[in-house]
Amino acid sequence: MQIEKLKTTLINCSLEEKDILKYKYKVQDIHQTLPQFDLTGWIDSPIQNQQELLDSIDRVASEIRACADVLVVIGVGGSFLGARAIQEALKPYFGLAEHGIEVVYVGLNMSGAYIKELLSYLDKKQVYVNVISKSGGTMEPALAFRVMRLYMEDRYGEKASERIIVTTDVEKGILKGIADKAGYRQFVIPSNIGGRYSVLTPVGLLPIAVAGVDIRAIMAGAKQAAEELSESDLANNDAYKYAVMRHMLYQEGYSIELLASFEPGLNKFHEWWKQLFGESEGKEKKGLYPSTVNFSTDLHSIGQFIQDGSPIMFETLLHFHEIEGDLQVPFDERDEDGLNYLSSRTFNEINAISKQGTALAHAEGGVPVIQLELPKLDEYHLGYLIYFFMKACAMSACLLEVNPFDQPGVEAYKRKMLELLKEK
Ligand code: PA5
Repeated sequence: MQIEKLKTTLINCSLEEKDILKYKYKVQDIHQTLPQFDLTGWIDSPIQNQQELLDSIDRVASEIRACADVLVVIGVGGSFLGARAIQEALKPYFGLAEHGIEVVYVGLNMSGAYIKELLSYLDKKQVYVNVISKSGGTMEPALAFRVMRLYMEDRYGEKASERIIVTTDVEKGILKGIADKAGYRQFVIPSNIGGRYSVLTPVGLLPIAVAGVDIRAIMAGAKQAAEELSESDLANNDAYKYAVMRHMLYQEGYSIELLASFEPGLNKFHEWWKQLFGESEGKEKKGLYPSTVNFSTDLHSIGQFIQDGSPIMFETLLHFHEIEGDLQVPFDERDEDGLNYLSSRTFNEINAISKQGTALAHAEGGVPVIQLELPKLDEYHLGYLIYFFMKACAMSACLLEVNPFDQPGVEAYKRKMLELLKEK
């Protein structure tokens, strides 16, 4: 399948195409030097032949679906946000996907209440565990794995090791040592791909395959994006255009970017995007603050601020033309609520019109709007969009002259926490 190109458009915004295109040579330079950074293996990986890897992920996922009611994924940051994003965007709102089982996440916080409740929730359910950590030593997942490992051994005895799958670095880290010693099955996180750029590796692909998502369609979308967005010419590369637009808006004094969409299933996708851009760009006292809104829900809360408050934000609106599932507004003879005038319309049509209205109103309120349009909300186009954002993010961070692939600020928190824990 080929999709129409993802379209990036500006709605009522002062940026002009000719000014955007002035970045042509700068973008070209960055495009050429980008692969020289460490951790850029994700740029070409969707184009490479991944057949064997996808087959082995499918095999393990089928086994998990056949033998378990729940997969417990242990991970934090880039080691869980992508999987949860795709799973939530594509699964039914109520209940599970037809071919999937429940996937729950732990090790993403240090709440005692959360992990205690999870353990009782797992009672009487058949469980598999997938622990994901590239460094193998991050505190949140390491603590959760300690608990889950003992829990699995208690429940399954020697068989526990068959139900624990480890996704980690090929050779480094404590988790790798534990996995080798215990004989757990392992998937490798390529050493040249960092956490928040790793959703299209086993980090994201195993959990989402277990949830019933078609990982081959995701990868096909990502492949198309990787091919199209390998174009160095700004005029023909929408990921780079988006990067330049947000960079120019930042230069004009907008300090917050709001990623907005009109499907509640995209809430967790927003969280993935927020981490990607926040952790890649927020450095050296620079960077747009990435925030997210889900409309129309948030129009009745933060919508007031966007329309009328401090003029510090612009909006990036995700627009999928086709959404699966819809309902026509029913005709009611009583018409006591006065809504019969809508009865020839469907909810999705009304949602689309409210989207247009919101973009126009926000633009009138002085909020620039960048619209990213895709034909359909499905596996293929999400795969495309994920790659699109990763490529745009890398370009955008380089335009700011910061390294898109490190996270020194996160290390600072870890150091302080460890000092305090050891003191006490
Ligand atoms: O993007 C990143 O590199 C981070 O968000 C990491 O994914 C996160 O800190 C988890 O690290 P690890 O997978 O090493 O446990």
